[in-house]
Amino acid sequence: MPLDGYERIPIEDMQDRAREFYREMSLRRSVRDFSEEAVPREVIEYSLRVAGTAPSGANRQPWHFVVAESRETKQRIRAAAEREELAFYGGRAPDEWLQAIRPFGTNAEKPYLEKAPAIIAVFAQTYRGEGDESKSKNYYVNESVGLACGLLISSLHLCGLACLVHTPSPMRFLNEILDRPQSERPYLLLIVGYPASGVRVPVISRRPFAEFVTFR
Ligand SMILES: Cc1cc2nc3c(=O)[nH]c(=O)nc-3n(C[C@H](O)[C@H](O)[C@H](O)COP(=O)(O)O)c2cc1C
Repeated sequence: MPLDGYERIPIEDMQDRAREFYREMSLRRSVRDFSEEAVPREVIEYSLRVAGTAPSGANRQPWHFVVAESRETKQRIRAAAEREELAFYGGRAPDEWLQAIRPFGTNAEKPYLEKAPAIIAVFAQTYRGEGDESKSKNYYVNESVGLACGLLISSLHLCGLACLVHTPSPMRFLNEILDRPQSERPYLLLIVGYPASGVRVPVISRRPFAEFVTFR
């Protein structure tokens, strides 16, 4: 079929768009303290639609997103995540890992899992179909789900919402709480909302362009 909707953009406009998109995206920061204020459901929905446009291996679209909004579900996620995090910070994590995350001042307590208005749990689907006969393997699952999450985070940011990627380890407890089949692997949690007023973020630096890009 013909490529629908492609429009050639004048070079100057392309350059403006590229610069503007970079400017906007460079302002994205992870926050770890959220306001309890509700966020517009439509913004979450459209951002998830954006995620669903991501390229994927063999077009399998091997992702599922569960939006946890109810207080009860968020409380259950928080309780289970904090149990894992306690074990993680209390000895399971190797020293090197703890050193790497020290600058972020994180610990086993995750009040944002309850406070933020929405938690998006992302699941990666290793297989599609149920039962041995219709079951078939998906391809490049990690890459595909990562790309969908990148689009999701970009959309939420451009719409004016803040988010945090949180990865309690392990996070199999999410299958039970969110009623997802064992064939789906919890991939990450995305905490979404408005930043709490006066929120502070860790000082970080981003690697210089010339260090992470090479033209040949
Ligand atoms: C795969 C992944 C896992 C992460 N897991 C956590 C986490 O469990 N807890 C946390 O506080 N931040 C987590 N982060 C957030 C990073 O610490 C953060 O993105 C990084 O410090 C850069 O800061 P920025 O997002 O403000 O640019 C994670 C980020 C990614 C991409």
